[in-house]
Amino acid sequence: MDKPDLHPDTLAAQALGWIDERTRAVVPPIHVSTTYLRDPDNQYRSGRVYARADNPAFDQAEQLLAALEHGHQALLFASGMAAATAVFQALAPGDHVIAPKVMYWSLRNWLMGFASQWGLEVELIDMTEPAVLKASLRPGRTRLVWIETPANPLWSVTDIAEAARMAHEAGALLAVDSTVATPVLTQPLRLGADVVMHAATKYLNGHSDLIAGALVPREDSAYWQQVRKVRAQLGGTLGSFEAWLLVRGMRTLPLRVRAACATAQRVAEHFAAGHPHVSEVLYPGLPGFAGHAVAKRQMHGGFGGMLSIRVRAGEAAAIATAARVKLWKRATSLGGTESLIEHRASVEGAGTPAPTDLLRLSVGLEHVDDLIADLEQALAAAGV
Ligand SMILES: Cc1ncc(COP(=O)(O)O)c(C=O)c1O
Repeated sequence: MDKPDLHPDTLAAQALGWIDERTRAVVPPIHVSTTYLRDPDNQYRSGRVYARADNPAFDQAEQLLAALEHGHQALLFASGMAAATAVFQALAPGDHVIAPKVMYWSLRNWLMGFASQWGLEVELIDMTEPAVLKASLRPGRTRLVWIETPANPLWSVTDIAEAARMAHEAGALLAVDSTVATPVLTQPLRLGADVVMHAATKYLNGHSDLIAGALVPREDSAYWQQVRKVRAQLGGTLGSFEAWLLVRGMRTLPLRVRAACATAQRVAEHFAAGHPHVSEVLYPGLPGFAGHAVAKRQMHGGFGGMLSIRVRAGEAAAIATAARVKLWKRATSLGGTESLIEHRASVEGAGTPAPTDLLRLSVGLEHVDDLIADLEQALAAAGV
């Protein structure tokens, strides 16, 4: 049966149904070799030479992710940052790139620092306004548009199909950080994007126990071959054990994501309903949220497990609330089984778009009533 015709749940649960042909084991083994035998006639017919460039330990995770995203293939990287920066490092100095003002802060810092020093002309814009993107594109000069949707930490939504259309009209590629949406909710390549990026550290693995990244292109191209070269030559390569763990995590991806979405929706609705201590809830699943209509078009089965709340009494009360939770874990990151709470402005520092009264919430797999009760007691105990 043609695997991509199967439902994502089926593809994920069986990790494409691979077995180890030699032993008949239903869980394929971990390949740890760093190097491969050369044939006596001096050829490398296996196609493998050295594990920095290419490792059979990656195959199952890469092919599963490519199937879920409807991509040409996938490449694993040592982290989400290694994957994201490869997208830019495959460009040439002097190229113009456009990225959002509201995005994962560490990548924004890299773009304003390293990428600019290397010669990329980086322009940060309000990506939620198609007219702003249109005006910023320079036909023939802009090589790449980077979007993140929903985007940290305000969960701003960008219309992927519209951004792809405009980028292509100007001769640029569209790359999408789809870490928060996951292929369960959104498949950007089907909406016209050229490359999808994941911090596999988050939902794809889902257990807060490995750092990994991935890229998936819609098709092969000279640009994609350059990305492959970046991974092989710059050496941002994942370890074999991490790749195996990632397959194990991805087997439950659809279940975990749908559960987190349902709980996040309930948490968002609870605190959005005129709550005495919460002035605003930022969540794409709320009908009053600015990006809701676009999110509804391009997210299917839920609006993600990430939301932010703004504490009415301000910064000190927000920090005090995070200090008083008993169940939510006070930690950065997202997409694990345990729910996390974070005063985002403290992490991002100067230049953050996060209001100082904002708490970022990553909703995990606990019971929704326990999560709401814990936040309620923390808000009350913070004296807000
Ligand atoms: C949306 C998003 N993109 C990229 C990254 C970077 O991933 P990593 O921490 O695996 O380098 C993160 C990490 O927090 C993220 O949340």
